[in-house]
Amino acid sequence: MTREEIKELAIRFKDSEPKEIISWVINRFGDKVALSSSLGAEDQILTEMVAGINKNTTVFTLDTARLFPETYDLIDRTSKKYKIKIKVYFPDHNEVEEMVNKKGINLFYDSIENRKECCKIRKLDPLKRAFSGLDAWICGLRADQSVTRKDLEVVEWDENNGLVKINPLAFWSEKEVWDYIKDNSIPYNPLHDKKYPSIGCLPCTNPVEPGDDIRAGRWWWENPETKECGLHEKQPAQGKQ
Ligand code: ADX
Ligand code: SF4
Repeated sequence: MTREEIKELAIRFKDSEPKEIISWVINRFGDKVALSSSLGAEDQILTEMVAGINKNTTVFTLDTARLFPETYDLIDRTSKKYKIKIKVYFPDHNEVEEMVNKKGINLFYDSIENRKECCKIRKLDPLKRAFSGLDAWICGLRADQSVTRKDLEVVEWDENNGLVKINPLAFWSEKEVWDYIKDNSIPYNPLHDKKYPSIGCLPCTNPVEPGDDIRAGRWWWENPETKECGLHEKQPAQGKQ
């Protein structure tokens, strides 16, 4: 798929219903597309939609081994409810051991460099494995989640991974997310009702105060501009294409 085609698709699907986008994507990419789910509110909606279209479409999650107990429980509840398999990827145990034994079990609080190393070993490297054989991935990103996501498109070229990236909920508001979850009885993480709008790893996620940025509780000790774990960081060149 060329960059021009991707730009055209981004315009074509700008105002489309997420289900319509997902149907098109599954039809176009078949078993070469997968949904990447953190079990967050947006991803739960996408899982329900994907399962409603094709139960064989891969849904995967990256288990960093530092997730909340509620998230593990939700993996189980979701796969049972929708009768799907959620494929779980783990980090390389040798790399985790080396990192932790050298830099400490909670190394991420010590520096951004340490935090990024931990995210690389626990999330990015397993993600690379999950991408093997794929041409496209579906994510639950929304433009109003943070300053780092304001230029989001429904269809993008993911330069870092050489894949088409689909963000069906790119232009949904938080209210639309929660209305859809309630209207369709979608299982969700109970932490969302306890001031956790965005949930990642336990030691790197805090509750937020009303009015705070949705992702204020993620890596709360860092600046908003640095708060991406690398899963969705864009290369500087991409904006110029
Ligand atoms: S993160 O980069 O800060 O962790 P966030 O939690 O907002 O991202 O999630 C954005 C999207 O990234 C999710 O909708 C999902 O598609 C993907 N994602 C994030 N964390 C994971 C994970 N642990 N496993 C699989 N996909 C994930
Ligand atoms: Fe490590 Fe925190 Fe990144 Fe999870 S979010 S991989 S614990 S630094």
